[in-house]
Amino acid sequence: ALDIRSLLKETGFITLDSGFMNTASCTSDITYLDGKKGILNYRGYPIEELAANCSFTEVAYLILHGELPTFEALEAFKHDMRRFALLHEDMIHFFDHFPPNASPMSILSTTVNSLHNYYPEMDEDDDPYGGYTVTAARLLSKTRTIAAFSYKKSIGHPLVYPSPRLNYCENFLNMMFDRPNLPYKIQPEIVSALNKLLILHADHEQNCSTSTVRLVGSSGANLYASISAGVSALWGPLHGGANQAVIEMLENIYADDKDFEKYIEKAKDKNDTFRLTGFGHRVYKTFDPRAKIIKQACDDIFEKLELHDPLLDIAKELEERVSSDDYFLERNLYPNVDFYSGIIYRAMGIPTDMFPVMFALGRLPGWIAQWTEMKEDRDRIGRPRQIYTGEIKREFVPMKDR
Ligand code: ACO
Repeated sequence: ALDIRSLLKETGFITLDSGFMNTASCTSDITYLDGKKGILNYRGYPIEELAANCSFTEVAYLILHGELPTFEALEAFKHDMRRFALLHEDMIHFFDHFPPNASPMSILSTTVNSLHNYYPEMDEDDDPYGGYTVTAARLLSKTRTIAAFSYKKSIGHPLVYPSPRLNYCENFLNMMFDRPNLPYKIQPEIVSALNKLLILHADHEQNCSTSTVRLVGSSGANLYASISAGVSALWGPLHGGANQAVIEMLENIYADDKDFEKYIEKAKDKNDTFRLTGFGHRVYKTFDPRAKIIKQACDDIFEKLELHDPLLDIAKELEERVSSDDYFLERNLYPNVDFYSGIIYRAMGIPTDMFPVMFALGRLPGWIAQWTEMKEDRDRIGRPRQIYTGEIKREFVPMKDR
């Protein structure tokens, strides 16, 4: 058995903090978060104001540079985004070699990693006010193209190339939905909702994927490799895959004759691993301020476009039932950012398996800014300790005696 005292004599004092519940891995100037009061500010600006007044590109600039852009700075940033939107033609062939049902997250992670092979000079580029803007614009713009191409390939449609005339969100929607015989009509309400969703996902301090980006980068790995690892971390249903899992859960409840209690009881059962996806958060213990804005945006877009989705009714009823249930109240489990976001994406026509990709597009400015901050602060290589619980030393047993 483990003799913890003699182990500590050997190793010194080590704190055990599984899941990093109470351990800061870095200092950061990017995002302020108060989980008890439900406050989230990027570079000091409340997300409520940013979501109401800014475009995603503007907020991306803020997160990357620490200041809201002037008109000229924003125009220059947008110009870079348009300039870098195309992928190297060789990369287009990548999309032909994934199986038709390949997950868009796996395509995204692989292809973002490969950007390093086509734009290696970017890795030397650590000047925060010169090449940094260009690198960030290149990555933001190309990742959006990769995301849209992965969707077009998955449905067997010809690729729609980025347009130099369109802004970030319009361009993405056009690449996703325009068809040779059926031109896509860009609706301002959809563009506005997409801007909001991406803004609300743009950074969230040291979450699982951002910590992964920093950890991978701390070894000296290039930006693209670090971001690609962040995409992989985001994929899981407890993190960025949650918006997809929420829709699947709501569909199941709908198909199950709206038997809400069955799902609520299952989530409360400690012998069952099932959870009500879209509820609970590591740091928000009153409410998730992003969820409030998204719920309102959801109502707005449904009203303006005169849409109806039975899943929105299911979501609202589930939230209402959960809000009066002692199990969820005692554990401070409220809807998180992902609970309503998937319903808006559905309304835009974005398929469920693309939802985590949408999350990744939103989180990109945060990942890039956090990676750069880690470099500028010259953080040490990330290397957590462990408390070893196995046997310390055993006699080797030759094969014939085992
Ligand atoms: N449904 C049912 N019970 C839950 C849920 C849930 N969604 N979330 C937490 N709990 C329970 C746990 O079982 C635990 O109960 P216990 O104290 O009786 O053991 C208690 O609440 C605390 O939960 P933890 O898992 O310890 O909380 P943690 O901070 O580690 O996890 C997490 C946070 C992963 C978000 C969790 O709430 C969860 O799994 N939620 C569902 C998945 C989800 O929506 N993820 C998206 C998060 S937001 C984002 O990544 C952008």
